[in-house]
Order: sequence, then structure tokens, then C-alpha cells
Amino acid sequence: MTRVFNFSAGPATLPESVLLQAQAEMLDWNGVGASIVEISHRSADFIAVAAAAEADLRALVGIPDDYAVLFLSGGATTQQALLALNFAAPGETVDYVVTGHWGKTAIKQVKPYAKVNIAADGEPGGFRDIPARDSWRLTPGAAYVHITANETIHGVEFRGTPEVGAVPLFADFSSSIASEPIDVSKYGVIYAGAQKNLGPVGVAVVIIRRDLLERAGQPRADIFDYRSHAERDSMLNTPPTWNWYLAGLVFKWMLAQGGVEEFARRSAIKSKLVYGAIDASGGFYRNEVVPAARSRMNIPYFLPDETLTARFVAESKAAGLIALKGHKAVGGIRASLYNALPVEGAQALVDFMRDFQRRNG
Ligand SMILES: Cc1ncc(COP(=O)(O)O)c(C=O)c1O
Repeated sequence: MTRVFNFSAGPATLPESVLLQAQAEMLDWNGVGASIVEISHRSADFIAVAAAAEADLRALVGIPDDYAVLFLSGGATTQQALLALNFAAPGETVDYVVTGHWGKTAIKQVKPYAKVNIAADGEPGGFRDIPARDSWRLTPGAAYVHITANETIHGVEFRGTPEVGAVPLFADFSSSIASEPIDVSKYGVIYAGAQKNLGPVGVAVVIIRRDLLERAGQPRADIFDYRSHAERDSMLNTPPTWNWYLAGLVFKWMLAQGGVEEFARRSAIKSKLVYGAIDASGGFYRNEVVPAARSRMNIPYFLPDETLTARFVAESKAAGLIALKGHKAVGGIRASLYNALPVEGAQALVDFMRDFQRRNG
């Protein structure tokens, strides 16, 4: 068996030890004589798995008790729509700071339900920077302010938490959750699809300050109501049990590796390696994001032309470095350096980049 270094933006690489454990437990979980995916979500066995995953995520991310933690199907995009349904009254204004593709998606999901004010927009600048905080046009009394902590496609990441006053700050952390310490108490809602740093696709994590669950929001079915999900411990309907279990194994792995401080240390090393190779290439490789806003998780970069880009993708794949083709919206190359990608993976990429430039530069 050959395991490659996988730079996919999501679904993404998972820790090998987690995959091996899941494999070993596939036919008989914990002596039950059946797989964890074959038993009821209401069984004591699965409830223990679910509760351990929540407790481990709370410990990992530092989630205070006055926050609910939900494990829901529907991915991050569904949460983007549910934010407005749950927290904005009809016609109420919601503020969005757009720093890339996913901020735009978030607005698209919300538009049918709320009045969107684009408080700041990085698009005129080509999404190469985070608009300066003092340029944001926030709405006094808005239902919430929404940011995308890390833009997976454009490779733009917030450093620290912006100050937005009394209005609750909502953040899409899909591609950077658990990659560095954050102060959860500064946010009203944090949400993330699991398929980058947390585990397999099919479950999203939603962290909600409990007092916000009392907001009236808009008329909505029970299944779209965060409060109902919180009251029923994310088991209002059959939850994605396999994904929840696998994410739980990833949480245990992250805690055993040293927690978010350790992953912050590793992501600094990995991203420094790759940006270093780009910046030292004399313009052969180009990343267009201003250094202060460069993502530690997703690094988009460009070669001089399409032919070289295609050759880079093909040859890197042959060298055991997969999924480096850039997103179609921006082209070029994209290296995603999530928690489960080892430092050796980033080093192997950098070695390949230098060799490729030597042969083609
Ligand atoms: C930052 C961000 N937000 C939202 C999404 C959409 O997630 P999903 O496909 O789970 O709906 C993605 C997917 O890549 C993402 O990177």
C-alpha cells in the first residue's frame, strides 16, 4: 500500500491512525458484534460516542459551557441559510464582510430571508487582502456580522478576531477550525463543515452562544430550527452517525498530538515552507495575497503559463503529491495544508517545486 501526500481542499486527508482504527472497528465496534454504522443513534453505545466527540471538541477548541455544540448534516452551506432563518427577523439587516468565494456563497443563501448589507468587500481588490477594519460599514443594530475566517479558494485568512461591538459575530471556520487557538467567547456562532480539519464530509459542527437560541428569527420548520436541534442533542432526526464517530476519532487524535497549539505550530512551519519556496522562486511561482492576509491552510499560487501548470499537476501526482490543481474559479495550483497533512508533506512539496523550477524555469 502506498499513501500519498494529499493536498485536497476537502474532502481532505485524514490521519492514517484514525483510518486504521476505523478499519479495525468496521465489523465489530467495541465488542457489539456490529459496526457503529449499523446500530441505533439512540442506543447507549452510540450516545456515548456522540457525547465523547462533543466533550473532546469542547476541550480541543475551548468551547465554554454557555455555548451549544451541534453535529448536523447538510454541510456548511445549509448552515449559511439557517443563520438568517434562526437569527434574523424578516427584513432585518445582516452584515457580511466578503473576503472570497465562500463569503459570496453565504450571502446567496441568506438573501431570500434577510436584508444583506455588504459591510466590506475584497472583490474589487481581487480578494488579495482583508479590507481594513476601519473601512467596514457596519449597520448599528444588525442581527449579526458574518465573516469567513479562512477563504479556502482565495487563500485569505483573518489574523485574530475582528472587533464588532455589541452585534454578534458569526464566522465560517470550515477550513481553519482547530488549527490554532481562538477565543470562542468573541463569537455568537462558529460553524464548519467537517471535511477539512475535523473529519469526513457529511457532518457540520455548529457552535452557538445559547442566549442566541432564544431569538425569534423567521417562520421555519422544526428541522431548520437550531433550538430544536440543541434541545434534542442533534438527534432530532437520524444524525450522520458514521461521520460523527469518525470526527470523534479525529478529535481524540488531535488532542493526543498536543491540541490546537501544536497544530498552530505545525501549520506555521508548513505554510512558511510553501510561501518561502514561492517567494524565493524569483517570480516563477506567484501567490497574490498580501503577506499579512495569507492563509495558513490553503495556498493558491500560479506558474508562468497553463502548459507549465498542467505539467506541474501531472508530475506532482506522479511523484505522490496529489490534488494540487487549483480551484476552477482561480486556476493555478492550490496546496491545502490541513491538520492531518504532516510537515513532511509540505517539505516534499517544496522539494518538488524547487526541482520542477530547475527543470522548467
Ligand atoms: C470556507 C467554506 N465555507 C463553506 C463551504 C461549503 O461547505 P459544504 O460543501 O459543506 O456546504 C466550503 C467548502 O469547501 C468552504 O471551504
